[in-house]
Amino acid sequence: MAKKTIADVAVADKKVLIRVDFNVPLKDGQITDDRRIQMALPTIKAALDNDAAVILMSHLGRPKGEGAEPEFSLKPAAARLGEILAGNEVLFASDTVGDDAKSKAKYLLPGQVLVLENLRFAKDEKKGNAEFGKAIADMADVYVNDAFGTCHREHASMVAVPQAMKDAGKETVCGFLVEKEIKFLADTIANPGRPFVAILGGAKVSDKIVVIENLINICDKIIIGGAMAYTFFLAQGKTVGGSLVEPDFIEKAKEMLAKGGDKIVLPIDTHCGDAFSGDSNKQVVEGDIPDGYQGFDIGPKSAELFANIVRDAKTVVWNGPMGVFEMPPFDEGTKAVAAAIAESDAVSIIGGGDSAAAVKQLGYADQVTHVSTGGGASLAMLEGKKFAAVELLDEK
Ligand code: 3PG
Repeated sequence: MAKKTIADVAVADKKVLIRVDFNVPLKDGQITDDRRIQMALPTIKAALDNDAAVILMSHLGRPKGEGAEPEFSLKPAAARLGEILAGNEVLFASDTVGDDAKSKAKYLLPGQVLVLENLRFAKDEKKGNAEFGKAIADMADVYVNDAFGTCHREHASMVAVPQAMKDAGKETVCGFLVEKEIKFLADTIANPGRPFVAILGGAKVSDKIVVIENLINICDKIIIGGAMAYTFFLAQGKTVGGSLVEPDFIEKAKEMLAKGGDKIVLPIDTHCGDAFSGDSNKQVVEGDIPDGYQGFDIGPKSAELFANIVRDAKTVVWNGPMGVFEMPPFDEGTKAVAAAIAESDAVSIIGGGDSAAAVKQLGYADQVTHVSTGGGASLAMLEGKKFAAVELLDEK
C-alpha cells in the first residue's frame, strides 16, 4: 500500500477530522478496556503536536439509528481521552452534524480535541448517505481514517465523508493504526514466510467459509477448531452428538476438504460435556462424539498436534477460539494454542475479538507480532477483500 499517512500532510492550524474506532466495551457507563482509544493515540497526538485542531468521530455499539440512545453515547470515551491527553482540552458534542457539533467544530482551536457523538445515532451513517457525509466533511480541512475496525464497512464516515472531502479538493489520508494493521495483515498475506499456518476457530463455519476458501490458495496448513470443526466432522461422516453444527454448510465443508486435502487439519480428539456447563460430566473422545454429549473444546492430543504445527511455522494467523473459552475447563485448547503461538518465532497475527482477548488475558500480547484491533475487518482481509474506505485515500 502506498497510501499517504497523517505524517505526509501539513496539518498546522487546520481542522483534522479523524475517523477512529472508539467502539470500547462499557459496563455501567465505565470503559472496561480502553485499548482502542490507546491504539488511536499516535495519530491523534501527531495531529495535536503539529498544531491541528482535532475532530474525532466514531461509532459505539450497534444502536438502532433512530436517535440518541444514552447507553451508546461516546461521552465516556471522550472523558477517558481527556484523562489520557491531560495537556489538551477534549470537548464533546452532543450530536454529530447538529448545531452543537457545527458550532464547537467552527470555534475549535489548534491543540483542542472535539469528540462528536456516536455516528450511528443517525441511520445515514450505516446507509453511507452522501449528504450526511458532506455535512461532516464540511467541518474539517483534512480527513484521516484511523478506524481499522470499520474499514470493511462502507458507512458514511468511512466512504461518503472522504469522498466529499476529495470532491472539495481536501486531503484524505490514513492514520498510523490503519497503516500498521494493513501492513501486517495485507503484507503478510501477500508475502508470508513459509510454512504459513492459519488457525481458525469460533462457533460458525458460515462466518469463516470465505476465509477458508481464500486461505486454501495461500496457506500451507489451515487448522480448524472451535464448534466449526463439528460441521467438518459431519462432512467426514462422523457423529457429533448434540454439538453445535450448521447442516446447511456440510456440503461446503465437504468441498473444502476435497479442495484443501491435507492442508486442512481438524481436531483428532474432542473434549465433550453432557451439558453446557463447566461442571457437566465430561469426557475426551477420539472420532465420533457420542449421543448425549456435545463438543466444547479440542482435546489434548489435538492441542499437541496444533502446537507442533505452530512450532514449525514461519507465519501464523489466528482467528477464533478452539473451544468455549469463557467456560473452564473448556478453555484449555485455546490456552494451548495461544501458548504455542507465544512461544514460536513465527510472525504471528491475532485477529478477532475472542482470540485477541485470550492472548491478552493470558499475558501473551507482547509475545505475538501483532494483535489486530479489528474483528470483522481482519476477517475481511483474510477473505481477500479490498476496502473501499482505504482504496479512496490519497496515494503517496
Ligand atoms: C468491531 O468491534 O469489530 C468494530 O468496531 C466494528 O463494529 P461493527 O461490527 O459494529 O461494525
